[in-house]
Amino acid sequence: MQPSADRQAEKQLVKARSRIDEVVRELAGCEYESRGPGDLWACCPFHTEDTPSFHVRVEHAMYKCFGCGEAGDVFSFVQKIRGIGFREALEFLADRCGVTLGSMSEEDKKRQSELRDLREVLNRASELFAQTLRSSQGAEAVTYLKKRGFEGQTAKHFDVGFVPDDFQTRLRESGLASAAIDRAGFTNLFGGRISFGIRDANGALVGFGARTLDPEGKPKYVNTRETSAFNKRRLLYGLDKAARVVARSRRLVIMEGYTDVLMAHQSGLEEAVATMGTSLTEDHVRSLKGRASNLIFVFDGDSAGMTAAERAVNLTLREGLEVRVLCLPDGIDPGDWFGDHDAAGFEELLTQHGMSTVSFLCHRAIERTDRAQPGWREQVAQEVLEICRAVIDPVRRETIAEEISKACSVDRNLLRKQVQVQTEAVPGRVSNSSGGGSRGASLRPASARVRSQFVVLAGLARVAEASATVDRFVRLGVLNHPDALQLVEIARTLGESPVDTMEWLEATREQASRLMPSLEKALFQEPGSVIPSYETAVEHLETLAEDDLLKQTRRAALSRPDIETDVAALQAIQDSLREDHPATSDGDTTSPDATKAVPT
Ligand code: UTP
Ligand code: MN
Repeated sequence: MQPSADRQAEKQLVKARSRIDEVVRELAGCEYESRGPGDLWACCPFHTEDTPSFHVRVEHAMYKCFGCGEAGDVFSFVQKIRGIGFREALEFLADRCGVTLGSMSEEDKKRQSELRDLREVLNRASELFAQTLRSSQGAEAVTYLKKRGFEGQTAKHFDVGFVPDDFQTRLRESGLASAAIDRAGFTNLFGGRISFGIRDANGALVGFGARTLDPEGKPKYVNTRETSAFNKRRLLYGLDKAARVVARSRRLVIMEGYTDVLMAHQSGLEEAVATMGTSLTEDHVRSLKGRASNLIFVFDGDSAGMTAAERAVNLTLREGLEVRVLCLPDGIDPGDWFGDHDAAGFEELLTQHGMSTVSFLCHRAIERTDRAQPGWREQVAQEVLEICRAVIDPVRRETIAEEISKACSVDRNLLRKQVQVQTEAVPGRVSNSSGGGSRGASLRPASARVRSQFVVLAGLARVAEASATVDRFVRLGVLNHPDALQLVEIARTLGESPVDTMEWLEATREQASRLMPSLEKALFQEPGSVIPSYETAVEHLETLAEDDLLKQTRRAALSRPDIETDVAALQAIQDSLREDHPATSDGDTTSPDATKAVPT
């Protein structure tokens, strides 16, 4: 008989490897409607209904039906849908995800049990710190927190405590193994400080930050050492508390400090999170992209804050996120600011002083520049343009040029030309194909619309569902470039999905050799090249299809007789049609230039 700890670890491993949405789809054939990342709805397999009330939360590995009340995790789902016991459900899932029961690798077992021990130590420590804060030992800390304006409720909500000097001894005395305590990442410097519990996005406690009470004390904060659960480059402090509101608003407000987040939440701004003494990393961006489309950076007005801000902003430029930057006056941090303002005041401040990424970068560059030098404006504009090279969307580039010219007071047309020249100079673009029969004219950049078509097309060789996506876009009329359509035809003759890259190239070479250079460019993207990703291209075509539809609807509305008699409505529709600027990126699909952009 296996020891129960092993069985527990096996169960956890099977659960972690069994995506609940996939299991539900496989066993019950559920079709999902997505209402956000990992937020799936389907018609309930346990009762009859036509509108989805069966809710699957991928992140929490749970399901619940709001119609019949059935709820549980992946094991109970398999038990109920198949009418079997727990053991059988476990065996079924273990088999499905490739875990051989009773023979978990030593390493797996060790990792699982260490993680369990770590959780236990951290939770026990958090209880001890909270108790100590409320005991006589914590009196000074309580006074300090009160003086800074933290309410008791906030302190509880954010796991604020006080670390007694002998905390390691007391944890040992409570029965925890020394080795486990050592692995939890504490240092001796923790004693005598105010502690802030740090949780991951799922709300699991992963570490602590601890502040000295002494205004001159150094270091101001100590944090948990890096452990298997604590990684500053990945974690965003407060994300677990912000997640619910952010899921609705799709907006994250990123600050710098623990205390900033506490004060912001206490003041009603629940979208606040913080990096922890590092500036934003690519790991952060990756994890927040699925949650939010709108980022607001709030930085302390000191120079360290400004440098962090610049780095963070650069990182988000190429991500297609909506970003605003708010810089507080020197010497004030968001925590101070929220001491006498509320969430509504924050929105006002943001409207008045929030900057776009581009104007923020211009302001920073201007501050650094020697403004006695002639030509400094052009130099600053050039510098910021250089940074903005990362941006590929031509419409966006146009507005960037405009913003830079405004911020630096340089001639807009001059800058615009530079943007165009730069675009052509960036290597690796489909548009800029130097292979095959490229002549002078083919150096013109392809429109974003054409490029997206080719990138989605290239997905046929890599992405399983690309075939269906391509069909859909052909039907919607946004995948309509004659060369692209011909390539789809050739791919179709090969039958398999995804198509075999080499076979496809071969077939294309035989049937339409003039399309080879553009296809090769799309298929063999260099790493780090500026060709948009498959996902970005799909998203782009999706938007174009929506726009097309909207325009059609408006045109249809225009021709309706009842509207023709309604002068005001007619005017409004005509105005809105005019706002579309159809000539920028969409228009040139059918123009001769776009066709030329893909070499013939
Ligand atoms: P701040 O110095 O801005 O701290 O550092 P704060 O949170 O606003 O603290 P108060 O208001 O002075 O109490 C921002 C963040 O950088 C990390 C912490 O995560 C802190 O919240 N930091 C700072 C450290 O890890 N160690 C330090 O010594 C200082
Ligand atoms: Mn601060």
